[in-house]
Amino acid sequence: MRNMNYKDMFSARTEEVRLVVESYLPPVEGHQSTVLAAMDYSVRAGGKRLRPMLMEETYRLFGGQGKEIEPFMAAIEMIHTSSLIHDDLPCMDNDTLRRGLPTAWVKFGYDMAVLAGDGLLIYSMETAAKALSMTDRPDLVARCMGILAEKTGIFGMIGGQTVDVELAGKPVPREKLDFIYRLKTGALLEAAMMIGAVLGGGDEKQLKLVEKMASCLGLAFQIQDDILDMTSSAEVLGKHVHSDEKNHKTTYVTLEGIEKAKQDVERISVEAISCLHELPGQNEFLEALIRILVNREK
Ligand code: IPE
Ligand code: IPE
Ligand code: MG
Ligand code: MG
Ligand code: MG
Repeated sequence: MRNMNYKDMFSARTEEVRLVVESYLPPVEGHQSTVLAAMDYSVRAGGKRLRPMLMEETYRLFGGQGKEIEPFMAAIEMIHTSSLIHDDLPCMDNDTLRRGLPTAWVKFGYDMAVLAGDGLLIYSMETAAKALSMTDRPDLVARCMGILAEKTGIFGMIGGQTVDVELAGKPVPREKLDFIYRLKTGALLEAAMMIGAVLGGGDEKQLKLVEKMASCLGLAFQIQDDILDMTSSAEVLGKHVHSDEKNHKTTYVTLEGIEKAKQDVERISVEAISCLHELPGQNEFLEALIRILVNREK
């Protein structure tokens, strides 16, 4: 990778991470093959593989070199994909295009999409548990399973999605919007980076700093997602634009205006990077990755 610039490295890492994630997918067979096909379709559809990538890069930052990170990398991408399958359902954002393909409910029906989201969500835990037999520190693996569940559930992503959906079409004060973003998007990024830190051997103080870094990154990442929903195109994003407007969502952009939103993405990402600088170890790619993600065009 020596002669690559960071953007090329990001693409190369997406490909490497994709292979790890896909190696943990269950075979599409048996009487329940329809739900397995919908799960497989949604994960293989693509995406940036950002969460497992951040997890592995944080693991490396702390000096981790083992294989027990891999089941967790697959698990977090399964959870993320399950959240997208459900997010796109007619009862939620009602979207028909995801990762450049028809959404799971369009392709497999509403019923199978609900089950595929559920299937991926719980298969992620079955997958993460595989790390228990790949380590001499099962205590750390168990802790990471707890982090994964907490940051996904009602005190994490699902909690954030609840308030997001409930407040569609209603005015949302800024502090509630921050709550939504911190949970619906930030929590999974926190889980990703915290798991990398725990398995890499980080201590409690460092873990808090990692959580803060990921929370900032999550906020900046979601604001950028809102900006792109207003300014990009389906061809570039692989999902239809103006989804938020269609659903009468209050977003950071509708609340603060696009210029302030852009400035805040920059400001909050600088905060994330300064947390990174306070941590021991060095991972230049991780810093570059944070910059790439907040300046991304898709
Ligand atoms: C989309 O996430 C949903 C948000 C939390 C904004 P990503 O932008 O990471 O989607 P993929 O995985 O690359 O498709
Ligand atoms: C999604 O936020 C957050 C999730 C937990 C899936 P959005 O609804 O803005 O994500 P996109 O734009 O559909 O990817
Ligand atoms: Mg949504
Ligand atoms: Mg959506
Ligand atoms: Mg969006």
